[in-house]
Amino acid sequence: NVLILDFGSQYTQLIARRVRELNIYCEIHPFNNLPNNVSSFKAVILSGSPFSVRGEEAPHPDLSEIKGKIPLLGVCYGAQYLAHFNGGNVAPSNTREYGRANLSFIENGELFFEGIETGSQVWMSHSDTIKELPTGAVKLASTGDVENAAYKIEGEATYAIQFHPEVYHSTDGKQLLENFLVKIAGVSQSWTPDNFVDMTVASLKEQVGTEKVVLGLSGGVDSTVAAVLLHRAIGKNLHCIFVNNGLLRKNEFESVLDQYEGMGLNVKGVDASARFLDALKGIDDPEKKRKAIGNVFIDVFDDESHLIEDAKWLGQGTIYPDVIESTSVNGPSATIKSHHNVGGLPDYMKLKIVEPLRMLFKDEVRRVGASMGIDPELLGRHPFPGPGLAIRILGDITPDKVRILQEVDSIFINGLKESGLYNKVWQAGAILLPVNSVGVMGDERTYEKCVALRAVESTDGMTADWVNLPYKFLQKTSNEIINRVKGVNRVVYDISSKPPATIEWE
Ligand code: XMP
Repeated sequence: NVLILDFGSQYTQLIARRVRELNIYCEIHPFNNLPNNVSSFKAVILSGSPFSVRGEEAPHPDLSEIKGKIPLLGVCYGAQYLAHFNGGNVAPSNTREYGRANLSFIENGELFFEGIETGSQVWMSHSDTIKELPTGAVKLASTGDVENAAYKIEGEATYAIQFHPEVYHSTDGKQLLENFLVKIAGVSQSWTPDNFVDMTVASLKEQVGTEKVVLGLSGGVDSTVAAVLLHRAIGKNLHCIFVNNGLLRKNEFESVLDQYEGMGLNVKGVDASARFLDALKGIDDPEKKRKAIGNVFIDVFDDESHLIEDAKWLGQGTIYPDVIESTSVNGPSATIKSHHNVGGLPDYMKLKIVEPLRMLFKDEVRRVGASMGIDPELLGRHPFPGPGLAIRILGDITPDKVRILQEVDSIFINGLKESGLYNKVWQAGAILLPVNSVGVMGDERTYEKCVALRAVESTDGMTADWVNLPYKFLQKTSNEIINRVKGVNRVVYDISSKPPATIEWE
């Protein structure tokens, strides 16, 4: 019930996440594609933008349905847009207006600033500044460098701020959003995991009825939570397929399958390892590996979904960031476009699509999973790439290399768990290098494989830094790997950040 109009800012998703943290539901829509039911939203937020309002190509949406009719908050570009087109003046600023600033003046007695004191730190990121306020506006706050840091329009519930309340460095940003949304716009804070589950189960029942749904489980958080929601709605009419591509972690296929069965899901485990390994024979180029794995997956899934008579729906664990990317101001990315390329789709893709998580951020998926009683260990699992160990075995793939890497990975990951380090790391794994090196074991010279260990901290995988694992832990892990895994005589630790490296080696 809150609309966020996106002008292409890198922070738009953050606004949505902050709003959701207040237990308020919100949707992001691009500025050039307003939803039809604008008047049903309880409040509207205009995002920032890389554009200048004075530029010719700048976004100029028609806000006549919104401004003065629905509570409205302009952030950064949004604030400048409201000024520029309503009698104010926006011009390039003379001083740098990036980064940390402090509110030096706040108008007394304003609901908008309730609970926020002068001195409060705010985050600026703009090169234009509002020189003159729009008609009917009253200044609400300033910083040392920015005179018009916040204003409101008299007689309307229209507010504007030059700084970014959504970023962590704006200390009272969340309070400000709460003041605007709850105290001024009167939006209810009822977006909780339990309510989401109730609402979603009810609407899935209505959407799918008594028809059958096929869903591919991966062992990851998103597909699991999507399956449990669908299972609550339609029970045994949900048919899950969990494919072993032979490139999973050690014992992963069996243990995850057990876990799924324990959750009451109707799941079929399909061991297609041989098909995948066969298709990968002799391939050493990373992108070709990904393609080969993708193609076999489609074939296997197509075969399996045909065995389920009368299936009408394909369930998917798509989450909100994927949805936003495909409709964003900056246009869909190349990879997302290829999904929409309808010619030559496999048969299962001709099913109707049901995506119970398409409005949730990753952290919300975990909270919803927890509220449905899914094992916290499953919800806290590190991300694992779809092509699995194939992109952690540099060069060509053989069953023997897969076995070696599974052993190494298992010692590393179990060690992290036993030492209480697993939950402090965002993602970890081992990489099998395509080099042999000389070693000595007993009185024998060896010439065996080298493995790299990688552990990173990150929030979204876009940037990452290596984790400073304790030397004692690395020492113990390295010993265990070399002593126990036949064929490995050297262990190294990857100390590269992303960028310029990536998390995976391929
Ligand atoms: P990179 O290596 O690009 O990885 O820094 C970022 C995140 O994406 C995961 N990753 C993949 N996931 N299919 C996937 O499903 C892939 O082909 C793929 N490649 C990388 C990686 O594990 C990390 O979490």
